[in-house]
Amino acid sequence: MNVDLYERFWMWTATVLLVAFVLAIVVSATVSAVHPPSHTETIDPARVRTESEFAHPGVFEDENGVTVVVLAALYQFTPQTIRVPAGRPVRFRVTSPDVLHGFQIVGTNANIVVAPGYVSEVVASFPEPGEYLIVCNEYCGLSHHLMQAKLLVENAP
Ligand code: CUA
Repeated sequence: MNVDLYERFWMWTATVLLVAFVLAIVVSATVSAVHPPSHTETIDPARVRTESEFAHPGVFEDENGVTVVVLAALYQFTPQTIRVPAGRPVRFRVTSPDVLHGFQIVGTNANIVVAPGYVSEVVASFPEPGEYLIVCNEYCGLSHHLMQAKLLVENAP
């Protein structure tokens, strides 16, 4: 069968493009898996409650700054009340042992998705003392609307 040169050119072009597209899908799904910027660290959700820093959530302060470790689980944040000093950067580290949750500090731009298997981080500063509401903003089940915590920003001693 005689195939015109012009036709052969486009048959090969289409084949090469198809291979390139399939390769792009395979590479982006495996080798260079893409994650949102707040999801840089992985964790085994089955061990979160027992064998990680999230087994003992709380506020930790050292020469590197203030770190708040928060467990977001059905249907509450632990700790329920978080006290941080005013005027210092605060790093929030949040994970979930069960389903997808949100972690939003109302009135600020701290707003992250908390997915099981990942540690989500956000850094925020609170120049003035005050009180903030923290809510879960991803629907996680029947008592989703009850999932909240309190952030108390206090003057450093
Ligand atoms: Cu947790 Cu909604």
